[in-house]
Amino acid sequence: MRKSFILTVLAGAALLSACNRPVPVAQDGTDLWLAASRPYSEVLASVQADIDPALPAEAFHIYDADGQRHVAAGSEAGLRYGVYALQRAEALGQAGPGMDLQEQPFYDLRLLNHWDNLDDTVERGYAGESMWEWTSPAIPEARIRQYGELCASVGLNGAVLNNVNSNPLILDAEHIARVAKIADILREYGIKTYLSIKWTSPIALNGLKSGDPLDPKVRKWWKDKAAEIYAAIPDFGGFLVKANSEGQAGPQDYGRTHADGANMLGEAVAPYGGIVMWRAFVYSPTSPDRANQAVEEFLPLDGKFADNVIVQIKNGPVDFQPREPFSPLFGKLKDTKMMMEFQVTQEYLGFSNHLAYLGTMWEECLKSDTYRDGPGTPVSKTINAIAGVANTGRDPNLCGYVFAQANWYAFGRLAWNPELCAEQIADEWIRQTFLKPEGMSDKAFTAKFVEPVLDIMMNSREAVVNYEMPVGLHHLFGGTHYGPAPWDRLGRPDWTPAYYHKADSAGIGFDRTREGSDNVDQYNEPLASTFNDLATCPENLILWFHHLPWDYRLSSGRTVWEEICLHYDTGIYQVETFRRTWAGLKPYVAPALWEEANKKLEIQQHDAEWWRDANVGYFQRINGLPLPSDVRPLDTPIDSLIYRQVQSDRLGMPIHDENNRPVILAPRFRRPM
Ligand code: GCU
Repeated sequence: MRKSFILTVLAGAALLSACNRPVPVAQDGTDLWLAASRPYSEVLASVQADIDPALPAEAFHIYDADGQRHVAAGSEAGLRYGVYALQRAEALGQAGPGMDLQEQPFYDLRLLNHWDNLDDTVERGYAGESMWEWTSPAIPEARIRQYGELCASVGLNGAVLNNVNSNPLILDAEHIARVAKIADILREYGIKTYLSIKWTSPIALNGLKSGDPLDPKVRKWWKDKAAEIYAAIPDFGGFLVKANSEGQAGPQDYGRTHADGANMLGEAVAPYGGIVMWRAFVYSPTSPDRANQAVEEFLPLDGKFADNVIVQIKNGPVDFQPREPFSPLFGKLKDTKMMMEFQVTQEYLGFSNHLAYLGTMWEECLKSDTYRDGPGTPVSKTINAIAGVANTGRDPNLCGYVFAQANWYAFGRLAWNPELCAEQIADEWIRQTFLKPEGMSDKAFTAKFVEPVLDIMMNSREAVVNYEMPVGLHHLFGGTHYGPAPWDRLGRPDWTPAYYHKADSAGIGFDRTREGSDNVDQYNEPLASTFNDLATCPENLILWFHHLPWDYRLSSGRTVWEEICLHYDTGIYQVETFRRTWAGLKPYVAPALWEEANKKLEIQQHDAEWWRDANVGYFQRINGLPLPSDVRPLDTPIDSLIYRQVQSDRLGMPIHDENNRPVILAPRFRRPM
């Protein structure tokens, strides 16, 4: 009797808890961050929308009056941003009665740069082939509309459609006509279309003998080309240019300067209100420190660029590394318009395989004080515009992986307002992307799902820094930019890891102090001295600025060698923690999304172990030091890793085996160490 009573009670309790168990809502990531929102048209229909010429063009004001919700804006564009802001506020539960929100974007130009090629491959793209489908007869209208809506929802207003390593054919009649069709669709979402051009286009397309920007025939060619483009696309945005960089031709080939080249193009598009974005990722192979080269080339040109020319500068002085100091150009150019170039696609942070939320990295850069106009002059205030190298492709979820979508979202939100916090942006993104399970309260969803995911995201970039290149190390990559190759020293020196880490039996790090390349003096005081002085240089950049003996003691009391080993180890622990946390979130996430992230995290952990084994193992060969006692032993001996790299597929994506471990290829030939 007593036993059956207990069994009944237990069965009842089990039933009750089964009923209370949250039921994940099915989703597959193809709605991105609009998953939890009402459709735009519905939000628009629910408000009184008015154009108020007193407001700046892109500004909006959402408020309640006369028993109604109003969205007032300075223009149609502002109205669109207002309605999207309301849509977001609704999804976040912030659109209750009495809502009053007034905003306008910080920068006029908020662009994505697509590194898409006309053969449909995407340079550094990890989400499938080109979303523009250049080689198909038809325009992929539905996808372009989805893209337009996603961009507009976060306030982006421009897209450069093709790779900075441009194909001259983008400017032939056939491609201009095709670009015009894409521009017609994007225009509906307030997005202007831009193109990357190849410097030698007049030679390639029409057989001109020269690309000299001061040659009248060349100038006329560009003016005629601009007229042809603007006849097809009246609101065409302008050109993005990579010239005299990584083998691309440019004005320097004709003894002219970057300013001569940029101004010639500026003149061609000026009558139509177009602009030229001239990249500062141009470096002279002769300068001994690659980190110095952009300032050396561009500082003498300060003030010499035309009004419609903007110099587009990567966030760091080298190349989108997991951690770099901000590019010193941001603090040096005073009479030149500057544009930030962030990389949304994770070229150096694990492609679309690793969970690396970049909001924190960009916040670090935007908030860095340049001291250009005295203390309190952050990078966000010295730049006039912002661009991000897109991570989009033809994959159904557009980014290859749900967590990669967060980076597109974060880029858009920071482009709108660079003073936002990465944490707030991540929180917003999680709530809009992952649907709350049925039967779960907002409070429980926040505590059990949003907060743990936020914790993973906020720690994710630092984890990548730890297992890839901690303590200021940088560019330890092999050719694909996916895996480690600290041993690489063949080829052009500043394209090899050995050039950057400079490890030998005595020490490691790049001496950029006044005793070394003097890169520190490209920064304004007090930063220059802060970086120069070992006692004040931030330790997360110490091997960026200093070459140190292996046994140099850092503030922790540990030696440089111990600290390097500890960071690599910590990176792996962090990813293990992410995996454990994610495992516990299974009850709250749609199975498709949970499985996807689970597999990616397993890949990430194995990749992190490979990074640690390769780097720590290689440096250990050089310094002969034992591992510190408090780090785990290496899994794979360096002999099995050195000179090897991961196998890649046709699109350059790394291949992992059935256990989600990277498939490391045997060396094709032995190289001297
Ligand atoms: C990096 C990247 C290239 C790219 C270049 C650029 O070097 O690996 O793929 O073309 O940057 O930004 O121009």
